[in-house]
Amino acid sequence: IGLGDGENFAASDIAAMVRYTNKVIHLNDNELASLTRDNFSISTAQAKHISRPTETVEWLPEEAEKNGFPHFMLKEIFEQPETIMNAMRGRLEISEGVPKLGGIIPVWEDLKKCRHMVIVACGTSYYAGCVGRYIFEQLTDVDIEVELASEFRYQKLNFPPNTFILALSQSGETIDTLAAIKEAQRKGARLLGIVNVVGSLISRETEAGIYNHAGPEIGVASTKIFTSQLTILTLLALLLGRHHNLSLTEGVTAIKALMALPDQVRQVLAQDNHIQAVAEKYCRCSNWLFLGRKYGYPVAMEGALKLKEVSYIHAEGYAAGEMKHGPIALINPDMPTVAIVPRDSMYEKMINNIQEIKSRKGPVIAIANAGDAKVKELADDIIEIPETLEYLSPILSVVVCQLIAYHCARFLNRDIDKPRNLAKSVTVE
Ligand code: M6R
Repeated sequence: IGLGDGENFAASDIAAMVRYTNKVIHLNDNELASLTRDNFSISTAQAKHISRPTETVEWLPEEAEKNGFPHFMLKEIFEQPETIMNAMRGRLEISEGVPKLGGIIPVWEDLKKCRHMVIVACGTSYYAGCVGRYIFEQLTDVDIEVELASEFRYQKLNFPPNTFILALSQSGETIDTLAAIKEAQRKGARLLGIVNVVGSLISRETEAGIYNHAGPEIGVASTKIFTSQLTILTLLALLLGRHHNLSLTEGVTAIKALMALPDQVRQVLAQDNHIQAVAEKYCRCSNWLFLGRKYGYPVAMEGALKLKEVSYIHAEGYAAGEMKHGPIALINPDMPTVAIVPRDSMYEKMINNIQEIKSRKGPVIAIANAGDAKVKELADDIIEIPETLEYLSPILSVVVCQLIAYHCARFLNRDIDKPRNLAKSVTVE
């Protein structure tokens, strides 16, 4: 609940109230609040009075304004250089090649010995978790899984000792993610969170965690949180990796690459006009395909999710290696494919996929590294991203996908910040 001056509020997300007040009180399960204009009271379901101190939210009212942007979604896409920086601020020890993450100190002794971790999340946060899995495989010795929170709780859960569940959530209120961590805790797992909303349910239910500090995300389509989550997942993996086998050189290289990201995202954002032109060219196509391999695969899924939720265009995100197992039958001149093809370990295979699509007359929009002549020759349109470490490139390629989705939705006159049938915080099943 939010406490104003001569006005009080109730909402499922602080972002909805931050424009009016920064004084909030969080309710726990099975508590009731009664609000009038000037007063409030909290009680248990058995009518026992509860007294709880007010918390002050650090978000500023102007963070909940569009600040000259036509939509929150576009504003939040353009905020990413800062939100990525905020995810790292005060957390990098360059000379040691090790991040500092104060939020996990309470569990650190067990966490550094942890060899089995499960990431649980929904929607965009889940796709961030899918990238996170590859990052952890690259940097740590942790055996890592990623699960849709909405399915996880129906599985037979049987964890090795000292298993940590890592919940990813922007709102910290997503009911499926919450239910998943509670079920895991019942089965003996330890709980960690990466959450944006300070004081939210998931942040309270987990033993320790790392905040995104990305400010309120108001557009229903999640954008800046995805890149912030990837940044923090990298920091966490790096921290664990440096206590496993990762060398000082690898740690320093990672930190330098992380620090270069905000400027590299700015370079991607500088191509907004070009991306808008590409969106205009294809926005009337009713079906799109997004393809990637390894790190590019979750980006493909996230790109497809972004396009469908804000533009209502049907889009599929696929692992490019699955093309021959079915989706290639869909390829025709009216179905654009967004191919995520940075010059990485999957490059040659992605080139083959692009050739297969072109030979079936499918238009290809390639997200590739700057100056890639081979891709330029093959693709119908190319949007360039700067070079970075392979495991950081999703942070750059996804920004292109976000802008494609945004501009398609704008050309189609969609209600971009509040797409039909969707809620920002999914607090009911
Ligand atoms: O608040 P959360 O990160 O837990 O939310 C998870 C999903 O509901 C959310 O990412 C949703 O998929 C967005 N609409 C995606 O843009």
